[in-house]
Amino acid sequence: MPKPAKMLEQRIDHFFSMPAERADRWRDVVAAARAWSVGRADQNAAEAAFAELGPIEGFHAFPGSALMARLSDRLRGGDAVGFTDLVRRVSAAIVTRDFKYDPAEWRTTEEVVDTPADVLPPTLRHGDAKRPYFEMLIVAPGATTQAADQIAQLRNLRRPEDAFIYEIVPVDSFEDAICAAIINPDIAAVTIFEGFNYASRHSAPVLRSVLSGLGLDGARAEDADLALLLANSLKRLRPDLDIYLLSDRQVENLAGDARSASIRRVLYAIEEPLELHLSVLEGIQDRFETPFFDNLKKYARRPISTFHALPLARGKSVFKSDWIRDMGEFYGINLFLAESSATTGGLDSLLEPTGNIKRAQEMAARAFGADHAFFVTNGTSTSNKMVHQAIVAPGDIVILDRNCHKSHHYGLVLAGGQPLYVDAFPMTEYSMYGAVPLRSIKKALLDLKAEGRLDRVKMVDLTNCTFDGHIYNTRRVMEECLAIKPDLVFLWDEAWFGFARFSPVLRPRTAMGAAAAIETWIHGSAAVEAYEKQQQELGSDPTVDELLTTRLLPDPRKVRIRVYQTNSTHKSMSALRQGSMVLVKDVDFYTVESQFHEAIFTHASTSPNQQLIGSLDVARRQMELEGYGLVLNAIEISLAIRRAVNSHPIISKYFHMLGADGMIPAQYRESGFVDFLAPDTTWASQVRSMHDDEFCLDPTRMTLVCGTAGFDGTEFKALLANVYDIQLNKTSRNSVLLQSNINNTRSDVAQLVRVLLEISNGIETRLARGGDGERNALAARVKSLMTDVPDLPNFSHFHEAFRQDAGRATPEGDMRTAFYGAYDATGCEYIPLHGDECNRRLREGPEMVSANFVIPYPPGFPIMVPGQVITEETIEFMRKLDVKEIHGYEKARGLKLLKPEVISTKLRH
Ligand SMILES: Cc1ncc(COP(=O)(O)O)c(C=O)c1O
Repeated sequence: MPKPAKMLEQRIDHFFSMPAERADRWRDVVAAARAWSVGRADQNAAEAAFAELGPIEGFHAFPGSALMARLSDRLRGGDAVGFTDLVRRVSAAIVTRDFKYDPAEWRTTEEVVDTPADVLPPTLRHGDAKRPYFEMLIVAPGATTQAADQIAQLRNLRRPEDAFIYEIVPVDSFEDAICAAIINPDIAAVTIFEGFNYASRHSAPVLRSVLSGLGLDGARAEDADLALLLANSLKRLRPDLDIYLLSDRQVENLAGDARSASIRRVLYAIEEPLELHLSVLEGIQDRFETPFFDNLKKYARRPISTFHALPLARGKSVFKSDWIRDMGEFYGINLFLAESSATTGGLDSLLEPTGNIKRAQEMAARAFGADHAFFVTNGTSTSNKMVHQAIVAPGDIVILDRNCHKSHHYGLVLAGGQPLYVDAFPMTEYSMYGAVPLRSIKKALLDLKAEGRLDRVKMVDLTNCTFDGHIYNTRRVMEECLAIKPDLVFLWDEAWFGFARFSPVLRPRTAMGAAAAIETWIHGSAAVEAYEKQQQELGSDPTVDELLTTRLLPDPRKVRIRVYQTNSTHKSMSALRQGSMVLVKDVDFYTVESQFHEAIFTHASTSPNQQLIGSLDVARRQMELEGYGLVLNAIEISLAIRRAVNSHPIISKYFHMLGADGMIPAQYRESGFVDFLAPDTTWASQVRSMHDDEFCLDPTRMTLVCGTAGFDGTEFKALLANVYDIQLNKTSRNSVLLQSNINNTRSDVAQLVRVLLEISNGIETRLARGGDGERNALAARVKSLMTDVPDLPNFSHFHEAFRQDAGRATPEGDMRTAFYGAYDATGCEYIPLHGDECNRRLREGPEMVSANFVIPYPPGFPIMVPGQVITEETIEFMRKLDVKEIHGYEKARGLKLLKPEVISTKLRH
């Protein structure tokens, strides 16, 4: 047997890159086999490469024990040609995934000629090509050695009318079950028979440290409840899995045990296996169903005449037209057949759903771990405004990251809430911001408390992860804030981060993941004691400093869990552009439900696009059935890109990808975590970092520094788009942001690396030919981009005229009054940014007060908001900005200000 679990002993990225690594190992075996078959190498090399496949194959249904045994026989029997043929086909089937649909892939070469019926999984015979395929993990004593009968029995139950086909992965221990669930994304269901072992037959020290990091260790084979423990552990890792428990104990008691909540069905072990088979298929069907999309397809098939305001419906005016037929040909007939309105029969209303949209939303809530989900067809820009309107009343204070997306600022203007801006840590050298330190948020709350104004604070509103990939410690932020005010509402803008739900590593850092963890904690037996202990330690009158430096625990008896999350489903999952969701986990939702509906009525279109709603439904289906593997792939791709760029001898001379250490100051990486690619990083250190650190980096958001190659971000983005057809996300002065997605492949990595190499080679050639002159020019350009960077201005302050309702020491302001003040054109003035008048006003006053939002792209945050006093730092930053797009600033007229007399009048009132 090969050296056991070798791969598990390696660095963190090896866990993430398991699928690619597996494919590579098979390719190595193919290469060694070929060399052996043509006499270029001996059998030993082929044997060594085959052995390298390791125990990981046991965690996949394909090629399975029969094919592996056949390969082994040929290898040992010295059949170089036969071995090579078979290994080549197996390897190709793994890469192309053809084994899911083509029964021939499961046969050995001889069987292709003469197939014994019982060798093939019956469901994989011809005619089943379109049925979705998944794998079921069976955890049972002796599963790997004695499961053949059980597996054959289950296979015999399969019928042509089954909607899905599945194959079985047998394991016989707790550790192997966890390992299989981590490594094999095709596993969609798990059946547990009691009596299995705890420890793996393989040595898996890294797995053990991962389990301990996740709090999943500590079980023993003797534990009577090992099966329940396994079910709960699997569910914590992959909530998408359907888990079945077969027991020969009193199943009624088991089913009634609160800990069996993670089990879909408890069955009596000697009951009909058909029951299990049907339950498994039903479980998948439950996730596969897309109530709205299914109904839309049905609707599109009906012969319908419309006398409605739907001129495109059925496409007649398109396909008959001489002038716009190409539109029909481009989009296809279904777009027009499915063009409809909620008010026509059969479809549901997004504004007041009672039928299939309601059901689709409930399923989305389940998938994302929320109590409620609401589909939004106008992007997260609208989702954010809906939450603001629903939660915030005029005058309420909202603690808000000044650097957040503009929809939050505008949302507050509309709702009349008063922003109390907190600043993110600056990353001046890259002209971007990080995230807001928890200390600043706690300080804001404690200051408000000191002024007796805590009751005015309604919500804390943060972006997780930030555009550039800073992930908050959502649990810690919420717990510590709730320790100061137990009924705070949280809005987490997870526009970029919706996919994170489907990664066990990232999930605890999401709004819903953290809310669930806090919920479990407050209902646990240790919470009150832990809280009381901390209260005693803090004493009756702790100083502000003590409160700031203590990791505060909330009072579990008082906490209200009120968490809202918005996500641009279209940014990280398979929804069409603008498809977004609001997720709600709010114990007091009933108190705001009617106003939440008012907010929907205010902001949602009365003609929402049916295709968008359908795509949200389908995006949920996809993530519930294959999200785990897709996210694993996105992370794997990003790690491959990071590694390729940073280790390439030529590319890395000019470009580099910022790691966690480059994006997050050490003080916020308390665990000491350096980066995913650092030599001593392990899965355990990654898990620890995700658990403990104030900020982590989303590996899929990659900041590529291009200033060191002499390109500013905008210029480099244009170069890649125009010359190389590579589209990037955002830019900063000296960097660009790349994002790996659920649809990226290894070819994308290769293409990017090839392009970066071509550009780097171009620089090398230019430098070699241009001599000192060229070298000096590049050095000067790099210096200007990387060193002569403008300081990033913090939020200055609101003018006193807009703070009459504010605290003495707390910086909130009445932005709405300032915003609407600018509607009177006679009350506004313009001052050129670069003129003397601007300098004079800075020196001598009266203070300049912004009449509107000014948002430069990049960096994309408002450097001025209505009512804000403009300071020297702001002007300096504006003057140094070399970006073309500045929303709210008209270059020809200058800064739009509220006139001093308008301000004075306001002050007098
Ligand atoms: C943090 C954040 N929130 C919200 C939005 C708006 O999302 P959408 O484009 O779906 O309207 C964006 C857009 O870039 C964003 O970056």
